[in-house]
Order: sequence, then C-alpha cells, then structure tokens
Amino acid sequence: MITVAPSLLAADFARLSEEIEDVRRAGAEWLHYDVMDGVFVPNISMGIPVLQSVRKVTDLFLDAHLMVTEPVRYAKRFCDAGADLVNVHVEADREEKILEALRDIRQAGKLCGVTIKPATPWEAVLPFIDLVDLVLVMTVEPGFGGQHFMPEQMSKVRALRRLFDERGLDIRLEVDGGVDRNTAPVCIEAGADVLVAGSAVFCTNDRAEAVRLIRGE
Ligand code: DX5
Ligand code: ZN
Repeated sequence: MITVAPSLLAADFARLSEEIEDVRRAGAEWLHYDVMDGVFVPNISMGIPVLQSVRKVTDLFLDAHLMVTEPVRYAKRFCDAGADLVNVHVEADREEKILEALRDIRQAGKLCGVTIKPATPWEAVLPFIDLVDLVLVMTVEPGFGGQHFMPEQMSKVRALRRLFDERGLDIRLEVDGGVDRNTAPVCIEAGADVLVAGSAVFCTNDRAEAVRLIRGE
C-alpha cells in the first residue's frame, strides 16, 4: 500500500484549512508537517501553535517532520499538539538523546520515526530500528521545498527495504523531497511506501490527478 503525504509547506498558509480539505478530497491520507528551527536547517517554518490549529480542522494522519536540533526538547509537545507520528533526525543529537525522544513519543501514545539527511548512511538508523514505526530517507537537502530529487538516495531506500524484509520488520519507509509523478515510480520501485510531495501536489491545478499519479494508479 502506497501512502501519499502532501507537505503543508507548499500550501497557501493564509488558507490552511481550505488547502487541507482540498488535498483530503484529492485522496491524500496523510499530511506531512515540516518543522524547521533555523538552526538544524537554514530556514524557519511552522511550529506547535499552527499544528494545534491544523489538528482542529482535520482527521488526516499528521506526520510531523522535526528538522530541529535536540528534538527531545520538543517531541512530546508535538505529540500533545496533535501529531499522529513524530519524526526526528538522527543527526540532530547524540544517540541516547534521540532514543529518549523516541521513547517520549511512544509514551505519549504516538508513532515515531527517524530521518536521515542525504549525506548520512542508511546504517545510521540501526540503533533505533527496534523502536521506530517509520524511517524517512531525505531525497533533497532538508530546509526548502521545490528542490530537485536525488536519485542516488535510492540505494539507501533499497538497503533499508532489504533489511526490513530480512528481519520481518513492520516499518514504513518514507521518502521526502522532489517527489512528483516522474520520480515517484523510482521511489516505489526501490521499496518506499510513503511518499511526501509538496509542490507536486499543492502547486498544480489537478491535485487529485497528482495524488493518483504519485501513488502509481
Ligand atoms: C524539505 C521538506 C519537505 C518539502 C518537500 O526540507 O522536508 O517535506 O516540503 O517539498 P517538495 O515535495 O516540493 O520537494
Ligand atoms: Zn519533510
């Protein structure tokens, strides 16, 4: 089953609730919520209060991608604000602190994930593999929407898919960055089953068609 997660970063922020309802009607099951702190990445996006408002207007599964340093400081607060899954970068702190953040998320009754940047090897997720529900492989440098897809990241997706299959692990495998109707089949073929798409869904006239084509239908 392929899940499409439109990234709210590409939505019109002045009309958030209409934008959310529109992609729900277009067939999206998840919403990807990008949090940037201006330190871990050179950009600032949205945070906890906006997530609380988003939670009030939708039942869509909310996938929070924390691009923040020391995410253990905020992981629980994003759970309380209404995220269904909270995803932290393995590069954002020491291993034991990342483990602590993941445990906080589980304790709050939510799903948790770890993310790796393009320069990070896939093996970096191994210390967390028994705790996570999802692994996210970035296919652009985190920080901005609308960048070019990095096909060389697919070797990491393949390696992770092989690992999950060999060990019988029930872990979703997500890709994020530059995913559109042309690059989605490459991701699916490599083994990804959650596809984040910002500009490819929000910046098009026919969002239902975009979601359908990204899902491979
Ligand atoms: C980038 C974000 C992505 C971004 C994807 O740092 O993590 O989620 O919104 O945008 P597109 O799909 O336009 O590359
Ligand atoms: Zn993201």
